[in-house]
Order: sequence, then structure tokens, then C-alpha cells
Amino acid sequence: MDANVLHPLPANDFPPPAHVAVIMDGNGRWAKARGLPRTAGHKKGADALRGVMQACRDAGVRYLTVYAFSSENWKRPAGEVLDLMQLLKLYIDRETDALYAKGVRLRFIGDRALLAPDVRSMVETAETRTAKNSAFHLTVGLSYGARQELVRAARRLAEAARRGECAPEAISEASFADALDTRDLPDPDLLIRTGGEQRLSNFLLWQSAYTELYFTPVLWPDFTPAHFAHALDEFTRRERRYGNAC
Ligand code: IPE
Ligand code: IPE
Ligand code: MG
Repeated sequence: MDANVLHPLPANDFPPPAHVAVIMDGNGRWAKARGLPRTAGHKKGADALRGVMQACRDAGVRYLTVYAFSSENWKRPAGEVLDLMQLLKLYIDRETDALYAKGVRLRFIGDRALLAPDVRSMVETAETRTAKNSAFHLTVGLSYGARQELVRAARRLAEAARRGECAPEAISEASFADALDTRDLPDPDLLIRTGGEQRLSNFLLWQSAYTELYFTPVLWPDFTPAHFAHALDEFTRRERRYGNAC
């Protein structure tokens, strides 16, 4: 079956997920299938993000968190890393004003210490510019790895304990969550991974403890608002029990 062919979906009255996370995977394969350089896939992927963000807003989803560049992606060839960082700068440069005007708060999660100074400064400027917005929250995982985030959180708490500001026995799920990069975000309700792989690849490991997972073979540059609607529809059919008896 062609995964790109969608069938009409029944309308439903379920509330939408508050927070959708997306592992935007498959850009390289999309480009390869067309005999294009991988960067062409990443470029097209940025367009797909625009469409999905609008689809979120239309559906009443208020938080969208996307995986743009993982801690492990630093291992890719220097040329691809450079292209991705260029593209990211272009995206921030071109989109921040429009995001600001639409009431979007743009944030980045991940290890900033590894970013080049010009990238870090653009990231910080975009965050500051949109900091007072709250109509929609777009969060980008950049140099992000969940294990690294958990280690940074553990260090923060250990340092606070060493300074005598928090007793080790006072560390709770809430205080741990508060030490993560995502401290101001609700946990994702739905996580979509495009590109056919069925794994988390170090994305939001703590936050996705009870997230509903949706995997699709559609490559990210091909992922349209109609595909997104399909994922939302499947989400509404899930029964979330959180460990309770059914
Ligand atoms: C996802 O697409 C984007 C990044 C990881 C930066 P890929 O570049 O991983 O594309 P595939 O998985 O090789 O097709
Ligand atoms: C995950 O995709 C990271 C992003 C989409 C940014 P990868 O392509 O890096 O993941 P693996 O290597 O297939 O697990
Ligand atoms: Mg990939």
C-alpha cells in the first residue's frame, strides 16, 4: 500500500493532544531517492515543518516539539553538519518575525555548549524575542540527547545539594523534571516518528514515559497536514491507562 495515499477520516469530538513531539526523520532517503544531495532533503524538511505547525494550530494542539539535530548527529560528516547549521540559521533568520507575529514562543532544548557561537547567539536572540508569546509553543531539539539532558539535570541537582540548597532526600519526580531542559513544557501526549524507524533515538526519554507513539513510513519531507491528521485520528482511538486497571 502506498503510505502517501490517505483515505477520508471520520470526524471526531475528542480533545486534541496538548503536546505533540515529532522525530523528523527520512530527509536523507528522500533526497537519495531523487538523486539529490542530502541537504536538499533537509531543506524540503523545513517546509514540512511549516505545514505541520499550521496543522497543529488548526487542530488546537498548543505545544509542538521537534527533533532537528541530535547529540549523536554531531558524528555525521562535517559537511552535512555545516549544511544543517546553515539551514537552521536561515530558518531562524527567516521565520522568527513571522513566528513572533503569530504569537509563537520559540525555544531550543539541548546542549548549547556544543553550538558554534553564531548559532548560539541566534538561538538566544530568537528565544528572547518570542519569550512573552504563549499562543503556541514551538520547541526545537538542537544538539539534543535525552541521556545527556538527564546527566545535566543530575549534575544540577547534585550541585544544588553540595551548596546545601536541596537535601538529596528532597529530590522528587517534580524537582527532577524541573532540572530538565523541558522544565516549562507539559509531557508530550503523542510522539510521531516519520521515516519508518521504530525507535526513540535518544529523544525525550524521561518526558515520553506515557506518551502514545505513532510510527509512519512516510519520509519527513513528504509528511503533510493530511498525514498529521491521520496521526491525530489514531491518537483519539488510544486508551491511555497510566497503569490503572481498564
Ligand atoms: C533527519 O533525516 C534529519 C536529521 C537527522 C538531521 P536524516 O538525515 O536522518 O535522513 P535519513 O534517516 O538518513 O533518511
Ligand atoms: C533522529 O534521527 C534524530 C533526528 C531526526 C534529528 P537519526 O536519523 O539521527 O536516528 P537514527 O540514527 O536512525 O537512530
Ligand atoms: Mg535518519
